[in-house]
Amino acid sequence: MDSFIINGGRPLSGTVRVHGSKNASLPLMAAALLTDQPLILRDVPDLSEIRNMTRLLGTLGCEAEQGGAEPGAPDAGGGDRAMTLHVTDSSLTAAPYEIVKTMRAGICVLGPLLAKRGRARVSMPGGCAIGDRPVDLHLRGLKALGAEITLDAGDIVAQAPGGRLTGGHVFLGGPSGSTVLGTANVLCAAVLAKGQTVIESAACEPEIEDLAGLLIQMGAKIQGAGSPRLIIDGVEALSGADHRVIPDRIEAGTFVFAAAITQSSITLDNFPTDALGAALDRLHAIGVDVTPKPTEGQPFDRHRGSVSVTPADVLKPIQVFTQPHPGFPTDLQAQIMSLLCLADGNSTITEKIFPDRFLHVAELLRMGADLTRNGPSVVVTGVGELIGAPVMASDLRASAGLVLAGLAARGTTTINRVYHLDRGYERMEKTLQTLGADIQRVNEADL
Ligand code: UD1
Repeated sequence: MDSFIINGGRPLSGTVRVHGSKNASLPLMAAALLTDQPLILRDVPDLSEIRNMTRLLGTLGCEAEQGGAEPGAPDAGGGDRAMTLHVTDSSLTAAPYEIVKTMRAGICVLGPLLAKRGRARVSMPGGCAIGDRPVDLHLRGLKALGAEITLDAGDIVAQAPGGRLTGGHVFLGGPSGSTVLGTANVLCAAVLAKGQTVIESAACEPEIEDLAGLLIQMGAKIQGAGSPRLIIDGVEALSGADHRVIPDRIEAGTFVFAAAITQSSITLDNFPTDALGAALDRLHAIGVDVTPKPTEGQPFDRHRGSVSVTPADVLKPIQVFTQPHPGFPTDLQAQIMSLLCLADGNSTITEKIFPDRFLHVAELLRMGADLTRNGPSVVVTGVGELIGAPVMASDLRASAGLVLAGLAARGTTTINRVYHLDRGYERMEKTLQTLGADIQRVNEADL
């Protein structure tokens, strides 16, 4: 297992490019199951979770080929990487537990399999470090389209009567708002269903809008993408497509926080300004500014433009509530907590999506933070400095929060189990090294 060793307190400078979005790529890849033709996806990040999804699709008769600007050519970096997915055997309908247990997002093959092949067997995903993570809304939505669903030996076994789903009215709101992957599943199921489907309380996350954009390019009829009401008129078949994945808003936000916590000015290319409204609002309240850097003669691209981050002299304390999009993303909660540890006063962070997503709190305490948890809220009392320590990564985004704390801390921070980070950040240490951070990857056996 690998660890990161960070010698903190170094300012960052320079420019990095934000990678394509992991959370957009996973359902986009699963959408390849909806067509017999090749699907080309550009700028899919190189991450362990993406490799797991590729393996999962392989077990379902969908082959993947990686390459550069043209499918099959070597990658030259800068987002020109292309992945081609092509179904060669559509008789397979079982997603094995061995792969699904490593990756919750494996559940997003359920909708496409059911829509195209009429049946699916997918392991019920277990809980994970950030909470229980049920899939009841996914199943409720698919049942509303006529699917017959049973549970057998821990697997969800689903069947479309007569081999084809039928459009229906679906409400996808749950106790914490809508469901992102649940919306992806029902949307993919509805595009090939007979008749019209209306999804109420659909997730409005940019990743769902990206999925809808791909499906429309493939020939689907979808209205309302990006809004809580999706209207889908089922079609008989979908074609292949060539699609560029949106930039990863969570990676982008994490690098803004990296600049903010080290009081550094950096430039970020391929930055999704529009997808990060709530995070940029909170950063502005803290005193950190993210400003567009338009290319001369061209309007600023709010989806993939370049921005500069200007740090605050003094970080102001604030209130943060995580919420479904367009609210502040739960996937940036650990990162903003690390930053607020160094603010001048008391901040409050309330987690409205995953109320137990606070495993980073105990680790930050080891680094000298002053945090008081009260149920789904944490009061963050600013301290003068964080102090390096050995800490344990517990889940993907908590690990990112610890890396940020390590970049700002006095002394050396060792972060164990960084495989969590590798699920969601492409070679994070390399990106931070490019910006001048003193961060090394080592094998725990060598420590
Ligand atoms: C996705 C993201 C994850 C992010 C989360 C919330 C991917 C691969 N993952 O996860 O990074 O943290 O959105 O923005 O895109 N819920 C139910 N019943 C369900 C499904 C969900 O009650 O059937 C609840 C969950 O427990 C949670 C909330 O709904 O409280 C949101 O979960 P959901 O949007 O489904 O998260 P994911 O799509 O799994």
